[in-house]
Amino acid sequence: MSFSSNSPIVCNLPRVTIVGAGRVGSTLAQRIAEKNLADVVLLDIILGMPQGLALDLVEARGIELHNRQIIGTNNYADTSGSQIVVITAGIPRKTGMSRDDLLKTNAKIVVEAAKNAIAYSPNAIFIVVTNPLDVMTYLAWQATGLPRSRIMGMAGVLDSARFETFIALELGVLPADVKAMVLGSHGDLMVPLSRYATVNGIPITELLDTATIARLVERTRNGGAEIVELMQTGGAFFAPASATSVMVESILLNQSRLLPAAAYLQGEYGLEDVVIGVPCRLGCSGIESVLELNLTDGEREALHTSAQSVRKNIERSQEILANN
Ligand code: LAC
Repeated sequence: MSFSSNSPIVCNLPRVTIVGAGRVGSTLAQRIAEKNLADVVLLDIILGMPQGLALDLVEARGIELHNRQIIGTNNYADTSGSQIVVITAGIPRKTGMSRDDLLKTNAKIVVEAAKNAIAYSPNAIFIVVTNPLDVMTYLAWQATGLPRSRIMGMAGVLDSARFETFIALELGVLPADVKAMVLGSHGDLMVPLSRYATVNGIPITELLDTATIARLVERTRNGGAEIVELMQTGGAFFAPASATSVMVESILLNQSRLLPAAAYLQGEYGLEDVVIGVPCRLGCSGIESVLELNLTDGEREALHTSAQSVRKNIERSQEILANN
C-alpha cells in the first residue's frame, strides 16, 4: 500500500519563536503546542539543548494528541516568518538578587536577540519575558524599531494570577472565579489594584478586611522572590509560561482580551517614553489599545513611582549599552 504523490501543498501555519530554551522558554513551548496554538521554534545559543528539548516535546505529541511542529535550533534563519517572537533569553535571578541586578547581563542578551529575530521575522509581534521586564521591553522596542503596538512585556498577567491565587486561597474559592489586575513595573513597586479585584463581580473589599488585603498585596509583590527563595536554583517558570501563553493565544486567535501588559506609553496615565504594565487589549495586531482606568490619587502616585524606577533603569541600561 502506498500514498499517491500529489504536488506539495505549502501550508502557512502560525509559528511562534521562543528565544531562550530555559525553563520558561521550554515550558512555554509545551503550553503553546499542547494548546494547539502554533508551531514552535525554540532557539538557544547552547548547542544541542533546544534540539533535544524539541525532540522530547515532539515525542510526546501522540500522547498529548496534537500535531504541532516543534523545532529546536541555534540558528535565527530557522525562525523566519514567525507571527510572534517571545524573548525569554537571559540569566535568571538567584537568591537575594533583585530583578534589577540582572540588568547588566540581560540588556546585551535581549538587544542581540531582538535584532536577530526581527531580521528574520519583520512582521512579528514581540513579547519580552526576560527580567528586569519593563526595561528589557524598552530595549527590545529600541533595538527593533517596531511600532509600539507590536512590542510588549509579560508580567501583569503573571502578577495578577498570583494576586488572584492568594485571594482565592484566603477565601477558599475557585481561583478562576477571582479577577484582578496588577499594573506598574514587574518588581517590588508593582501596583495591585485591590479596588478592582472581584470574586465573580463581588469586590474583594466586601469580602476581606484592609489588613488582609494589604498582606495579600505584599505577598503578590514578593511573589517571584518567594519562589526563588524556596527553589534556590532559579525562579518560577510554570506560571510565567502560562501567563505568556495567554498573551500569545489572545494575539493568535484575535481574542481582544483585556490583559495587563508592559507597554510603551505615550501620554497614557500621564507617562511618556517609558514601558510599564497597563491594561491592554491584545488582538491580531498586537496591542490594539491601552485602557486608561480612573485611578485614585494613591494608585496614580504608586504607578508614577513605579515608572520612575523603570526610567532610572532605562537610563542605566543606555549607559551600559553605550559603553559596550
Ligand atoms: C517571577 C519572575 C518571572 O516573577 O520575574 O517569578
